[in-house]
Amino acid sequence: MQSNQREIYIESIKQRLSPERFRHCMGVEKAAIQLAKRYDVDLEKASTAALLHDYAKELPKQQLLLLARKYNIVVDDIIQTSLGLLHGPVASWLVKEKFKITDVQILDAIKNHTVGAKRMSKLEKIIYLADLIEETREFSGINTIREAAMNNLNEAMRMALTCEVVYTMQHCRAVHPNSIDAYNDLVTSQKEKENEAI
Ligand SMILES: [Fe+2]
Ligand SMILES: [Fe+2]
Repeated sequence: MQSNQREIYIESIKQRLSPERFRHCMGVEKAAIQLAKRYDVDLEKASTAALLHDYAKELPKQQLLLLARKYNIVVDDIIQTSLGLLHGPVASWLVKEKFKITDVQILDAIKNHTVGAKRMSKLEKIIYLADLIEETREFSGINTIREAAMNNLNEAMRMALTCEVVYTMQHCRAVHPNSIDAYNDLVTSQKEKENEAI
């Protein structure tokens, strides 16, 4: 990426987000670039998606809802009770318009970083994971996921999704079906590979 483009993204998120969230985004970029190098993914795409993934995170919930209507984003029953989940899909539309980003991989990685999705690309998995394990995050079990992320992308994703789904359940919140789809996708494709090897 032209370094001035990256600087424009950084300046924009610095203006929009709290200092803590800004530091989080810079941490996500660092982790995403590390993973992109490890898994041979375009570094510029990783950097852009990471810097912009929380672009809509601090918008009021009612504004997220208005923007979701504007962009025809599906607001299902679960999202209705947890409007914050819209910050991924809304961000992908906002950055598409504001920065004229047309790369579908970048836009999907931003869109799906909140709950995951079926058949995620390597870039989507990298942004999902980097969001969870970047250096300012701290939770029990994080180091196991950090280690796994550098060894096996799919295994780390399985662990990360398990962690998020369990956390959501423990807090009596509804689990979005996209997270279950993403999890099942990883587990079934792993089983298929094992069966092929027999
Ligand atoms: Fe987010
Ligand atoms: Fe984030």
